[in-house]
Amino acid sequence: MAKEKVVLITGASSGIGAMTAKILVQNGHKVILTARRKEKLDELVDYLGEEHAVAVQADATQMNELTQVVQVGLKKFGRLDVAFANAGMGVSSAGVEKGEPEQWDKMIQININALLYTAKVTLPHLRESVGQFIITSSAAGRRPIKGSVYGATKWFAYGFGQNLVEEMQEWGGRCTTIAPGMVNTPFFDEAKPDKLSPVDVADAVLFAIEADERNCVREIFLMPTK
Ligand SMILES: NC(=O)c1ccc[n+]([C@@H]2O[C@H](COP(=O)([O-])OP(=O)(O)OC[C@H]3O[C@@H](n4cnc5c(N)ncnc54)[C@H](OP(=O)(O)O)[C@@H]3O)[C@@H](O)[C@H]2O)c1
Repeated sequence: MAKEKVVLITGASSGIGAMTAKILVQNGHKVILTARRKEKLDELVDYLGEEHAVAVQADATQMNELTQVVQVGLKKFGRLDVAFANAGMGVSSAGVEKGEPEQWDKMIQININALLYTAKVTLPHLRESVGQFIITSSAAGRRPIKGSVYGATKWFAYGFGQNLVEEMQEWGGRCTTIAPGMVNTPFFDEAKPDKLSPVDVADAVLFAIEADERNCVREIFLMPTK
């Protein structure tokens, strides 16, 4: 089995983040879970077991709240090996002309600012453990989509990941950007059973963190077959 890693996951109350927590714990890792919905996080800790998981409610757009998450996680598990910046949202009004700036502001806060804050508060600890930073970008951050402001935030996430690889490389750290196509999660109002499953993305995270230290998996691009 791979060396046990302590992994902080943002957006752990639902979809990709919650499934990643399950897959990581099944494979012998420890998880620090955060999101705004405390009851969802508590349910997940009950399922995973308190010896493997800790939950800290936080709004990831607030850097002081993220700092608190890291502190609680460090107190519980003693170190941080991986931070998975996964929290994010879309908008209901697509495009620019028909888009709503209030929705853009909220989305930019979580998809861009919270990603930066997550990196800012975890990097000193990842430097100590010579650890890894993982980002959920999207296929929408790898290919143009007509007028998509959501896609543009995910291009940011992708570009930031590429730049962070270079910064972390200076001390032997690794950064992985995961870009999935459509995944069947509560991100969408209707189920998408023929698209990717959250398990597919969780497996990609597991692959990236269990890869040999000499191997920096810089990006993983997943698309539904159909
Ligand atoms: N589903 C897809 O097709 C797809 C494809 C590519 C990329 N992605 C990306 O994958 C990531 C996870 O999405 P998902 O599909 O798993 O959707 P989801 O089930 O809606 O999960 C989104 C998660 O983000 C958290 N979140 C949102 N705003 C937050 C905030 N201000 N502070 C803290 N946490 C916040 C939510 O938790 P709370 O509401 O409890 O705070 C939730 O846990 C997102 O970055 C999304 O853009 C999704």
